[in-house]
Amino acid sequence: MRIVLLGAPGSGKGTQSQRLVERVHIPQISTGDLLRSAVSRGTELGRQAREAMEGGRLVDDSLVLGMIRERVAEPDTRRGFILDGFPRNLAQAHALDHLLEAIKRPLDAVVQLEVDYRELVRRISGRRTCADCGRVFNLLTSPPGTTLCPKTGHAHRLIQRPDDNEATVAERLRVYDEKTRPLIDFYRARGLLRVIDAEGDVDAVTRRLSKVLGMPALRAPVRKKPAAARKVLKKTAASRKVAPKNTLRKKTAARTVRRSAPAKRASTATRGKRR
Ligand code: AP5
Ligand code: MG
Repeated sequence: MRIVLLGAPGSGKGTQSQRLVERVHIPQISTGDLLRSAVSRGTELGRQAREAMEGGRLVDDSLVLGMIRERVAEPDTRRGFILDGFPRNLAQAHALDHLLEAIKRPLDAVVQLEVDYRELVRRISGRRTCADCGRVFNLLTSPPGTTLCPKTGHAHRLIQRPDDNEATVAERLRVYDEKTRPLIDFYRARGLLRVIDAEGDVDAVTRRLSKVLGMPALRAPVRKKPAAARKVLKKTAASRKVAPKNTLRKKTAARTVRRSAPAKRASTATRGKRR
């Protein structure tokens, strides 16, 4: 599965990519993360990218495309990948088309995460990232609590991104409107675009995302019935000598549909959202 997650800064591309990685085991390719790593390692690429990033502008297409070409050629992308933060303008989208066409691995879907402008700013101001494992947290909505960093085995070492300051965020949102928003029509015209409401609970957004991607495994886990009730069901099925699993599966499916109904209703409230 080859997917692009499209959305304004703070819309949750990184958060949802990390969740997909855990479940479908295909790599997340975040151009922002790759560039930040180049900057912190002090490479030539990082040196060239730094100024644009600090100003909230896009890094030169040739640098970003070189990086993507190399990353997509790595063996772990054979089963697919999640592009997070790329493409960012029409030139990059065309270049991606050509690249994937040449290797005969076209995109399967582009998912647009819709979030209201004020919510974007709120999320970005509370964002903190673990300097060691890269996991994204939020001081307001998803603090690390007592979880430990899988890399160090200690508490997460939280840092704030240098471009998460008021002036740079305003510029990043402006650049998004001018350069990235046109990609919505670009991918809609190709029949690849799916749009989801990316506000509300992170788990609910993951469910909406998995639904538009047709990934049932990503839906909420089915809650088990209490042990006593399970025993009765098992006994009944056995005494009837019918296929018990099918019966249970049908009942479980009905319950799953009923539980997901409110999330579906919420997803229709998208008016005024920044795409
Ligand atoms: P990049 O790193 O891609 O930044 P961005 O696009 O501005 O997006 P963000 O990472 O800020 O947001 P996100 O959507 O990943 O949200 P997140 O999941 O973290 O790019 C940085 C810079 O690099 C660019 O400005 C540019 O200079 C350069 N660059 C990158 N790619 C480039 C390219 N292709 N071409 C040229 N230049 C490029 O979530 C945000 C916060 O919200 C977190 O704290 C999270 O915990 C929280 N949150 C997430 N979901 C929810 C929810 N449902 N409810 C409440 N809180 C939530
Ligand atoms: Mg991100």
